[in-house]
Amino acid sequence: MHSTSHSFVGKRVLVTGASGFIGAHLCAALLRAGAEVHGLTRRSRVPVAGMHWWHVDCCDLEQLRGLYADLRPQIVYHLAGFSTGTRALEAVMPSLQQNLISSIHLMLVATELGCERLVLPGSLEAPQENNAIPSSPYAAAKGAMRDYAAMFHTLYKTPLVLARLFMVYGPAEHHLHKLVPYVCLALQRGEAPRINSGARAVDWIFVEDAINGLLALGLTPRLEGRSVDIGTGQMTTVREVVERLVNIARASVEPQFGNVSNRSMEQERVANVAETAALTGWRASVALDEGLRRSYEWYARMGTKTEREVGV
Ligand SMILES: NC(=O)c1ccc[n+]([C@@H]2O[C@H](COP(=O)([O-])OP(=O)(O)OC[C@H]3O[C@@H](n4cnc5c(N)ncnc54)[C@H](OP(=O)(O)O)[C@@H]3O)[C@@H](O)[C@H]2O)c1
Repeated sequence: MHSTSHSFVGKRVLVTGASGFIGAHLCAALLRAGAEVHGLTRRSRVPVAGMHWWHVDCCDLEQLRGLYADLRPQIVYHLAGFSTGTRALEAVMPSLQQNLISSIHLMLVATELGCERLVLPGSLEAPQENNAIPSSPYAAAKGAMRDYAAMFHTLYKTPLVLARLFMVYGPAEHHLHKLVPYVCLALQRGEAPRINSGARAVDWIFVEDAINGLLALGLTPRLEGRSVDIGTGQMTTVREVVERLVNIARASVEPQFGNVSNRSMEQERVANVAETAALTGWRASVALDEGLRRSYEWYARMGTKTEREVGV
């Protein structure tokens, strides 16, 4: 774990999306690091020893402002969101509301009521070049969120940092259709995973590494206004990830590549890990094979249970 984790002792930390994949892992790490952790969810509260749960929708500004005013968190991680890159028309409104509006609400209340640090979830999908067309409703919302973050920091001095998360994978990903859980569970059932061409190369980061990166962004001084890459600096194609999982599982089935259409305008980007290390002192340390093996073993233990029954 990054050394700054020790400084979380006694800190009041608010985590939105606390029941989600990254949020749940982050809350567990913050609790281990001695923080007072307040998790926000729209669902029923998940029993986690030591956690405080709040039932609030980030899209409801008054509800969010009321909770924030009561809690006065020192550090805020905004991990609530609509985390799918689908190109479907139905994704436009959920992505706008859950990724953009909810983030603007967090920036507003953090600016009005104050905090030491607000960490926002950036994405490799956000358009990079000027006038680049967003590849999905998700990418459009993440790009707009980045622009709002720059505005809030410049105009209102909001102490925010953008965590530009690359492709996070690992245990307890509850969207079971995402690549790693989907392939692990298919192989455990003895079924051949059906994949697109598998040609897209992605910077995959194990969730434990991503969490340590997020912890560093919560405490490292002088990061305000920056976007910091949370990745490994290494690109691996979807095909190679699937083949490595087949090896780990010692499966005899042949994955069916080309069985599902590729998405349009897939983005291939790699994290600038040298810059992140210079800014924060943090670097990812879990090798892809190790992360995939640990993921495979976790989904094997999951079996027919739900991810909540297995736990983070
Ligand atoms: N996973 C990745 O590889 C990755 C990569 C780059 C960026 N990110 C970003 O990181 C963030 C977390 O990702 P994730 O993979 O952990 O997603 P996730 O598993 O889908 O969790 C997101 C959680 O946000 C909560 N939520 C959604 N809308 C909300 C609202 N209006 N108010 C309150 N809570 C709301 C949902 O929990 P409830 O239903 O309990 O409210 C959901 O479980 C997202 O912004 C995502 O875009 C993820």
